[in-house]
Amino acid sequence: MFRFPTVFFGSVFAACLLLFIGLTDRTNDGASPNVLSFDVDIPSLLHNNKKKSISPKTEEDAPKVITWNRNNSTDKFCVWFNFTKATKESDFRSISLCTHGSIGYSKFVFDHAENWDDRISVALLVDSAGFTTLKTYLKLHKCMENTTEKVSTHLVWKPENETCSSSFILDALEEPLNATDFIDNCNVDDHIDAGLFNHSTTDLYYPNTLRNVAREGAGTELHLIADIENHFSFNASEILLEATKDVDKKSKIAVVVRRFEYNTSFDEPRTVKELYDLCRMHEAYQFHRFFYAIGHSVPGLPHWFRYSLNASTTPTLFSINYRSSIWEPQLIVHASAPYHFEGFSMKRDQCALPYELCRAGYSFTVASHAFSFHKGIKINSSSKYSLFEIAKIARKIGNVFRQYLDAEYGIETIKTCKKW
Ligand SMILES: *[C@@H]1O[C@H](CO)[C@@H](O)[C@H](O)[C@H]1NC(C)=O
Ligand SMILES: *[C@@H]1O[C@H](CO)[C@@H](O)[C@H](O)[C@H]1NC(C)=O
Ligand SMILES: *[C@@H]1O[C@H](CO)[C@@H](O)[C@H](O)[C@H]1NC(C)=O
Ligand SMILES: *[C@@H]1O[C@H](CO)[C@@H](O)[C@H](O)[C@H]1NC(C)=O
Ligand SMILES: *[C@@H]1O[C@H](CO)[C@@H](O)[C@H](O)[C@H]1NC(C)=O
Ligand SMILES: *[C@@H]1O[C@H](CO)[C@@H](O)[C@H](O)[C@H]1NC(C)=O
Ligand SMILES: *[C@@H]1O[C@H](CO)[C@@H](O)[C@H](O)[C@H]1NC(C)=O
Ligand SMILES: *[C@@H]1O[C@H](CO)[C@@H](O)[C@H](O)[C@H]1NC(C)=O
Ligand SMILES: *[C@@H]1O[C@H](CO)[C@@H](O)[C@H](O)[C@H]1NC(C)=O
Ligand SMILES: *[C@@H]1O[C@H](CO)[C@@H](O)[C@H](O)[C@H]1NC(C)=O
Ligand SMILES: *[C@@H]1O[C@H](CO)[C@@H](O)[C@H](O)[C@H]1NC(C)=O
Repeated sequence: MFRFPTVFFGSVFAACLLLFIGLTDRTNDGASPNVLSFDVDIPSLLHNNKKKSISPKTEEDAPKVITWNRNNSTDKFCVWFNFTKATKESDFRSISLCTHGSIGYSKFVFDHAENWDDRISVALLVDSAGFTTLKTYLKLHKCMENTTEKVSTHLVWKPENETCSSSFILDALEEPLNATDFIDNCNVDDHIDAGLFNHSTTDLYYPNTLRNVAREGAGTELHLIADIENHFSFNASEILLEATKDVDKKSKIAVVVRRFEYNTSFDEPRTVKELYDLCRMHEAYQFHRFFYAIGHSVPGLPHWFRYSLNASTTPTLFSINYRSSIWEPQLIVHASAPYHFEGFSMKRDQCALPYELCRAGYSFTVASHAFSFHKGIKINSSSKYSLFEIAKIARKIGNVFRQYLDAEYGIETIKTCKKW
């Protein structure tokens, strides 16, 4: 299913990569016959293509590398927007699946591209140990049509010094790829099995920065903010677009997309019926049912099933109440809605947006007919990070967040939303 004709790979790979990076003129992409083989890597493509024209011709062609530092967060990042840019035109009125991860998690993008039939905007955190994985991701991104068409990739990294420069990425991409790392096909699983996505870092991760980068780079009117390990049900993008037809700048509606987890000894549930059957067998549950239900449970599940399973109903939104400041539902919001407050690490990061939306007077709804699932039922918490350190960060940034909210939305709104 993932395989693509070699000719396709070669021409798209050569033409698109250079077009995206904006390094060269587009009429002469130097696609010599050897480019059509898989034994070609990004650096050699760069070399083959007249490095002398490295200065971009127009503003628009210039790599958009900026320094990113919001909400006085102690962390600064460099961001290269649209490092890969979705080739397929898309309506402004569409839903971008905005997701994020450190570079090793980029393997999940390919499943999204097959199942989410709309834009995908992904922010990937790269460090110097992650370049082999980045090259692998870029290779697969180019050789799968769905991914090339839909996925815009924004690279995020910590500045080595005070400046943010595209050379951090470009220099690394020019390093030759270790031949033993190179697999002569476009099969994602083969690359995963070979360990090419085995990248991990013990640096603290700042999810809200990555979420916001993905939203900023989306370029569509609606944003579905999702964790990268989620998988979406069949036709989710079309269903959700229909359900959210009344969500606009004025309406101040946040839309919850239900999340589930299931026992991987069973087939993955891509339809509501399959999900329902697994839930009845106690092999699927609302996300983090055993581990952190309070953060994820969304009221009205029996009614949601009844409605969504009924063949004569159409996608719609059900009103629900905001739950609490530790509630972290998966949301679709309008592009004009607030972004996640930055500076949190892996604790209380995700609930910052729902809480701010409550303070800002948004109402909450749940979309029928579509959902996402996580592979595996999580029983225990595990973290490679220091829980003490991330709790300390959450307390510290929480104080800043509170002051910001009180100034922005007034303290009266605490009555409805409770305290942070
Ligand atoms: C960021 O710092 C500036 C200057 O110190 C201050 O005016 C502003 O309120 C701070 N913003 C936040 C979100 O704390
Ligand atoms: C914090 O960041 C959000 C999202 O970028 C932005 O909307 C908001 O204005 C910022 N607030 C402050 C005080 O910096
Ligand atoms: C691309 O996605 C569509 C559904 O959106 C699917 O039917 C098709 O098989 C996918 N193509 C590939 C090459 O995966
Ligand atoms: C900062 O990085 C730039 C670009 O990589 C480099 O030219 C410059 O020498 C560096 N400065 C310091 C102080 O390391
Ligand atoms: C390529 O990888 C192999 C196995 O990890 C290693 O032994 C070899 O030294 C690497 N070669 C280069 C040029 O990095
Ligand atoms: C990659 O990681 C997986 C899971 O942690 C491990 O089983 C596998 O041996 C690793 N592969 C390589 C080549 O390091
Ligand atoms: C990225 O590309 C999209 C179109 O695909 C565009 O709407 C958006 O403005 C671009 N983002 C940035 C930050 O350049
Ligand atoms: C998805 O949409 C297609 C085309 O509209 C339809 O044929 C198919 O039955 C739908 N699948 C599900 C699970 O809703
Ligand atoms: C998943 O299903 C298998 C097979 O029925 C069972 O042995 C296992 O305990 C289940 N796992 C969980 C987490 O429920
Ligand atoms: C299915 O929906 C239709 C239309 O809303 C309704 O009339 C019917 O009672 C529903 N059927 C069931 C079994 O809920
Ligand atoms: C889960 O945590 C409990 C208590 O911390 C421990 O006894 C148990 O062995 C853990 N289970 C797994 C599957 O890690």
